[in-house]
Amino acid sequence: MRIESDFLVIGSGIAGLSYALQAADHGSVAIVTKYDVSESATNYAQGGIASVISSEDSFEAHINDTMIAGAGLCHEDVVRMVVEEGPKTIENLIEWGVKFTTKGASYDLTREGGHSARRILHAQDITGREIQRALVEAARNHKNITIYEHHIAIDLITTAKLFNCSKDKNCCLGAYVLDIKGSQVVTFSSKVTLLASGGAGKVYLYTCNPDVASGDGVAMAYRAGATIANMEFMQFHPTTLFHPLGKSFLISEAVRGEGAILRRRDGTAFMEKYHKLKDLAPRDIVARAIDNEMKISGDDCVYLDITHEPADVVRNRFPNIYQTCLELGLDMTKEWLPVVPAAHYVCGGVAVNMNGETDLKALYAIGEVTYTGLHGANRLASNSLLEAAVYANRAYLHTIEAIKKPCSKWVDLPEWNSGTATNSDEMVVVSNNWDEIRRFMWNYVGIVRSDKRLARAMRRVELIQSEIEEYYWNFIITSDLIELRNLVTVAQLIVSCAQMRKESRGLHYTIDYPERDDVNCKHDSYIKKEL
Ligand code: SIN
Repeated sequence: MRIESDFLVIGSGIAGLSYALQAADHGSVAIVTKYDVSESATNYAQGGIASVISSEDSFEAHINDTMIAGAGLCHEDVVRMVVEEGPKTIENLIEWGVKFTTKGASYDLTREGGHSARRILHAQDITGREIQRALVEAARNHKNITIYEHHIAIDLITTAKLFNCSKDKNCCLGAYVLDIKGSQVVTFSSKVTLLASGGAGKVYLYTCNPDVASGDGVAMAYRAGATIANMEFMQFHPTTLFHPLGKSFLISEAVRGEGAILRRRDGTAFMEKYHKLKDLAPRDIVARAIDNEMKISGDDCVYLDITHEPADVVRNRFPNIYQTCLELGLDMTKEWLPVVPAAHYVCGGVAVNMNGETDLKALYAIGEVTYTGLHGANRLASNSLLEAAVYANRAYLHTIEAIKKPCSKWVDLPEWNSGTATNSDEMVVVSNNWDEIRRFMWNYVGIVRSDKRLARAMRRVELIQSEIEEYYWNFIITSDLIELRNLVTVAQLIVSCAQMRKESRGLHYTIDYPERDDVNCKHDSYIKKEL
């Protein structure tokens, strides 16, 4: 089966949907999404979207905060562009129907770690769900948008693979996509392909990401020959709920923004030992501080205390967090919440320019799947939804020009060839490899790293990679197998980038090079597959 469209969008979070809503006024859009259209990382974002709205705030302050958090690796031109285009982008979201929480005649702005001002728009503590709701509704009502749910992209289709053309002319023609329910591979042919497939938290044992976050976009782009950058910078969110039934539920940084304090089991507040901003220090510092406190005390978690705030204020401001914790037997208005860090956001990804263009013709990428230069070595809280929305707008403006002279017409793309593959009767291989990757990534490539641990991780990556390749070509493809293949590629990219960086900076901390080295290491870690 073959489907043709002007724009193929892979992913259905804020990035993919806000791009699609604009591009659809200029051509047909196919959105491919792995599960239900609402199942994206955006849907689970609690905190909000940072933008300079208040008259007491300024672009310079937001730029400065972003650059400080990014630990010397942010690209200043990108930071300035994103911050300055932020307010206009917020207007787009509001026009599409997003309802942010208001206070009197204006918006209620909250604070999170690393921000010097209140500048985070939110919808109570379910900001992402509200954005997702509004964008899905608008997309479903657009006549030029077709949404393919339960469809997982397998690989990008490129001229280099099909026609063996020279690498510098490599052009993306669409993607092979598995229709999960129909169990068939569909050929999506497009003039422009946009990756908006989100992050890769599932490569770690503990993550607050939803199951969709298996790094599919980065892995596909890498296999197709696009440049990938800075994958060593995996952000660990300091506070996810430590509870056997809590599934690493996120306790938003906004809880600390509204006054919560991190404590040891004995009640001692410890963040002042680590940073002058105490509990509102940048996220990498808070996550490492918690990791350190847990190692010193031998405890399984630390505690987050907001019991000093009036109970009704907490319930009104954080209704989702309050209710979820209560269902697990924890009343945050009366008791401290047990918390631990968990993988949250990958700051690296497919390298793109300011229009979201990759180095493959007709392939664009926006949102968490990318490395734009905005986050540097550590993302400032609530800058990610902003980045996704700003780049959606810029990629849209660029691609509506690009489709006027496509690098290739809808050529007669060959159907997916499954050769002699048969049904596998050994799914245990998939689940075992999946567990193993996530466990060694957590233990060896987590908050604190070393040369030895990285080398151990790489040996395992190589072994699993060879097993998966064999399995992949011999058995009929399933979504689990596609995700597993992507996860191991992402693991390889994270470890490779981490091995390149012989210093500690932002989210990358190694005991072998504990200091930041601005003389030898102030650069991005690029990686590209030889085709
Ligand atoms: C949070 O609510 O703490 C997450 C915000 C973010 O990661 O930007």
